[in-house]
Amino acid sequence: MLSISTDNKLPRSPHLVTPLPGPRAQAIVERDRTVTSPSYTRDYPLVVARGEGCMLEDVDGNVFLDMTAGIAVTATGHAHPEVVRAIQNQAANLLHMSGTDFYYEPMVNLAEKLAQHAPFPQGGKVFFTNSGAESNEGAIKLARYYTGRSLIVAFLGAFHGRTYGAMSLTGSKVVQRAGFGSLVPGITHIPYGTHASLDYLEQQLFSSMVPPQEVAAIFVEPIQGEGGYIVPEDGFLARLREICDRHGILMVVDEVQSGMGRTGRLFAIEHWGVMPDIITSAKGIASGLPLGAIISRPELMTWPPGSHATTFGGNPVACAGALATLNLLEGGLMTNATQMGELLQAGLRKLSEQFPQISPPRGKGLMVAVDLWDGEGNLNPQLRDSILHGAFHRGLLLLGCGKAAIRFCPPLIIDQEQINIAISIIKEVLLQR
Ligand SMILES: Cc1ncc(COP(=O)(O)O)c(C=O)c1O
Repeated sequence: MLSISTDNKLPRSPHLVTPLPGPRAQAIVERDRTVTSPSYTRDYPLVVARGEGCMLEDVDGNVFLDMTAGIAVTATGHAHPEVVRAIQNQAANLLHMSGTDFYYEPMVNLAEKLAQHAPFPQGGKVFFTNSGAESNEGAIKLARYYTGRSLIVAFLGAFHGRTYGAMSLTGSKVVQRAGFGSLVPGITHIPYGTHASLDYLEQQLFSSMVPPQEVAAIFVEPIQGEGGYIVPEDGFLARLREICDRHGILMVVDEVQSGMGRTGRLFAIEHWGVMPDIITSAKGIASGLPLGAIISRPELMTWPPGSHATTFGGNPVACAGALATLNLLEGGLMTNATQMGELLQAGLRKLSEQFPQISPPRGKGLMVAVDLWDGEGNLNPQLRDSILHGAFHRGLLLLGCGKAAIRFCPPLIIDQEQINIAISIIKEVLLQR
């Protein structure tokens, strides 16, 4: 399987030259420990030096196959030449001018593209941000402003970010909230993804605690991300839409992780044919540059000048990266995500048949996860963590999510050979346990 390149290109399969972490990585991890916040969550000591496609090289010359894409961000792969060229050209012309106070064309070009592709009947309007949390933060404000209502419904297991509004929507892990109260009031969480949960919302909450006529928005991930790559029951999102329509509530879909082609459609909600009112985006939108967006039905953005703005959001270099990313998505990457996702699920399904510790896979496109079990029907986070470590020590980068899941969110350019390599490394790890 090993393919070592003779030019400066990275091999297309893992190639380890030192024990992990290597000496340079160890030194950097040590320096990092003394000067960076301990709140970061590093699962294993990977110290990256450069990336190319689906491959990453660490500071000691070890090469890894990346099934994380920097948490579902580098949609077009690491350093895609067309994205890099667009960024370099834009950087040489104009780094910054602030779209809040001035105009520049890359921001308009990108807004036009996003509005054109958004699943709204009459185009859309776009507000640019710097991150997923900031997109959700702004969407809370927009929903409250437009409706004149204050309450919000969100879901247990949801992850929407770590700033106060976004953290208050989040219902994923208690460590993300503990010690940070008090949070934004007026947000009620219900279980995710089932009709039983929507029965509870309609039959219990709306008649006892939460007056529906005071609810501004329901925030929902079409596929829950950090919560475990959970795909909702059939009809769940359509029913949520009906509930919103019945009560004049806005449906805000958080596509920060599931959007920008990751599931084989530009936005995951398109799989269900449901039209949201507001979409929040970030992560894959510019293949690695910090950019996010709130995309809404055009009539919703009634907020006046000065009511919401940002210095950096929609930065021209990030917009150039996003335009190049969208061109590549339109040019076949989304189809690749669908096809490779099917192969990945087929490979994982085979593994789950061979190893009872692994659940059958779930997800759409290249947003796929499996759970790890202990053999007695309990989720097994220790086994999950040990597989993440075992894979790292064989040159495969994976991330966890949910309680005991491994998520697969590689760059959308991944090919069949690389999927097979990933599956065979996981199999090797399981066999050697
Ligand atoms: C669905 C979802 N929303 C929001 C966020 C927050 O994004 P950011 O970390 O860019 O603030 C994330 C991050 O993982 C996410 O997965």
